[in-house]
Amino acid sequence: MYFKKLIGEMVYLSPMNPEDCEKYAEWINDIEVSSNLGLVKKQINEFIEREMLQNLSKQEFNFAIVDKKNDEAIGSVGLFQIDYINRSAEVGIFIGNKNYWGKGYGSDALNLMLDFTFNILNFNSVKLKTYSYNSRAINCYKKVGFKEVGALREGKIIAGEKYDIIVMDILSNEFKNSYIKKIVNLNQIY
Ligand SMILES: CC(C)(COP(=O)(O)OP(=O)(O)OC[C@H]1O[C@@H](n2cnc3c(N)ncnc32)[C@H](O)[C@@H]1OP(=O)(O)O)[C@@H](O)C(=O)NCCC(=O)NCCS
Repeated sequence: MYFKKLIGEMVYLSPMNPEDCEKYAEWINDIEVSSNLGLVKKQINEFIEREMLQNLSKQEFNFAIVDKKNDEAIGSVGLFQIDYINRSAEVGIFIGNKNYWGKGYGSDALNLMLDFTFNILNFNSVKLKTYSYNSRAINCYKKVGFKEVGALREGKIIAGEKYDIIVMDILSNEFKNSYIKKIVNLNQIY
């Protein structure tokens, strides 16, 4: 069961559903998906995945990304490394269903996550890290307003090659595409 917590153009963000563990285990065991993620080295079956989803759903600020058209979960997005003093966090996102890649679903979901982070949690900055070979992710992040701020040189070694880990961030005053602001403004009018 999913709930429409934050609604975008193509997806909505819902509290996570641990019953999705089989689906997630399938996605995470697909090297095309997981070679872009830190957990590629891990062996994850549906039982381990259930525990991971249960933990994530209890931790703050993790959401299932759900397709508005058919109410199907396609991945997840969430915050970690949360720093309440400096109001900053790191964001992680993955769309496990490859049929959805490159069609705007990731940027729609990320936009909602940033809206929540800046306009509900009142955070000031959000950062992320991605591998330099993940061009689709880098393009997606730039589209929602992330800027490249540096690189951890040769921080990733895979398939006999060394790659940089790209660091990107966005500040609250750089985020313009808020639908939460529109909702609050509407409440004021009526
Ligand atoms: C990274 C991810 C979340 C992006 O979501 P998405 O829905 O695929 O991204 P979007 O469609 O919103 O944006 C992708 C952009 O890259 C472009 N793109 C698509 N395929 C591409 C490719 N093979 N190479 C380079 N750019 C590509 C798209 O054209 C789009 O830019 P545009 O809209 O300006 O044309 C998703 O692809 C994913 O989960 N991948 C697997 C796991 C992963 O990499 N997670 C991130 C780890 S840091």
